[in-house]
Amino acid sequence: MDRRGEHDGRGRMERVEVDREAPQPDRVERAAAVIRRGGLVAFPTETVYGLGANALDPAAVARIFEAKGRPRYNPLIVHVDGVAAARRLALSWPPLADVLAEAFWPGPLTMVLPRRPEVPEIVSAGLPTVALRVPAHPVALALLRAAALPIVAPSANPSTALSPTRAEHVVRALGDRIDLVLDAGPTGVGIESTVLDLSGERPVLLRPGALSAADLEPLTGALERPVEGDEAAPRPSPGMLERHYAPRASLSLFGPEGRTAAVARARSAAGEGAVVGALVFEPLGVAGDREVLMPRDPAGYARKLYAALHGLDDRGCDLVLVERVPDGTAWEGVRDRLQRAAQP
Ligand code: TXA
Ligand code: MG
Repeated sequence: MDRRGEHDGRGRMERVEVDREAPQPDRVERAAAVIRRGGLVAFPTETVYGLGANALDPAAVARIFEAKGRPRYNPLIVHVDGVAAARRLALSWPPLADVLAEAFWPGPLTMVLPRRPEVPEIVSAGLPTVALRVPAHPVALALLRAAALPIVAPSANPSTALSPTRAEHVVRALGDRIDLVLDAGPTGVGIESTVLDLSGERPVLLRPGALSAADLEPLTGALERPVEGDEAAPRPSPGMLERHYAPRASLSLFGPEGRTAAVARARSAAGEGAVVGALVFEPLGVAGDREVLMPRDPAGYARKLYAALHGLDDRGCDLVLVERVPDGTAWEGVRDRLQRAAQP
């Protein structure tokens, strides 16, 4: 019987270790075969692990929504191995797309462009656009080439939960719902790609991410930001749900003026039996070895962020106090993730 890669839900996922720099062709091919027959493969990108399926097979794409518990109105990013493959999925390709692809692909930039009818509606949640990205991870590129297909890949986590930066995170959260995971160790960048909408008159920064506005604006000019919270307006990027990227623990941000209050809050929570953790630049001295000292540069911080939060979840934290990160565009991606994770 051809199960078309449908997972039987009995934990028969295959975990395949693969070399990051020189992915073994036979191992990559095993994963590519799963993609071709309509199954689900988790694989590393330079940002986070993605949950991949054949972008041209609506039934395979539907399995992604099911596995993640993702609302159908939230569209997916299509991963391709280069500009030529991207152009085959976009109805039009403005000169700025070439400029940005030249500068940032392969890399953590997702471009939203008008969609060709060949891209199934379910991929784009019915929107007239498609989100495209060429990932910079050797394993992701090897998989795309071996499958010879565009691959949709949201982050490989249950909807609204923390994104995975290691194969273990994927196995724990989704292991019983996917067919195979390619394990190439921790990812390098740590937060998701920057999503830029090029389908309108002016480029709009839909999701700040690994690349900052400061990286993009020399090429794009001043970037617009989506208007959020207007119920009547169509959602510019349906994935921008307020609570997102969140650990199980509740997360609370504090600034320099809130340090004393944060210490008091930690002591009283601990007094009531809560397990408290912290992500800080300077130790608070209240959460023992559950205080994670974070790097003072945005790239270093991003790389460590999700792994640190996964680690605190694993250790049973109920409350995580997070020292605010600096203002400014270089920290925009990290700031966005922390704000969304802290939404009640
Ligand atoms: O770094 C990344 O981008 C990772 C790796 C695996 O590539 N993927 C990722 O996918 O973060 P996901 O599904 O977690 O986030 C995709 C984001 C969502 O905010 C979604 O709403 C937005 O991209 N998006 C996708 N297609 C879109 C479209 N046609 N128009 C507007 N936003 C779109
Ligand atoms: Mg995600």
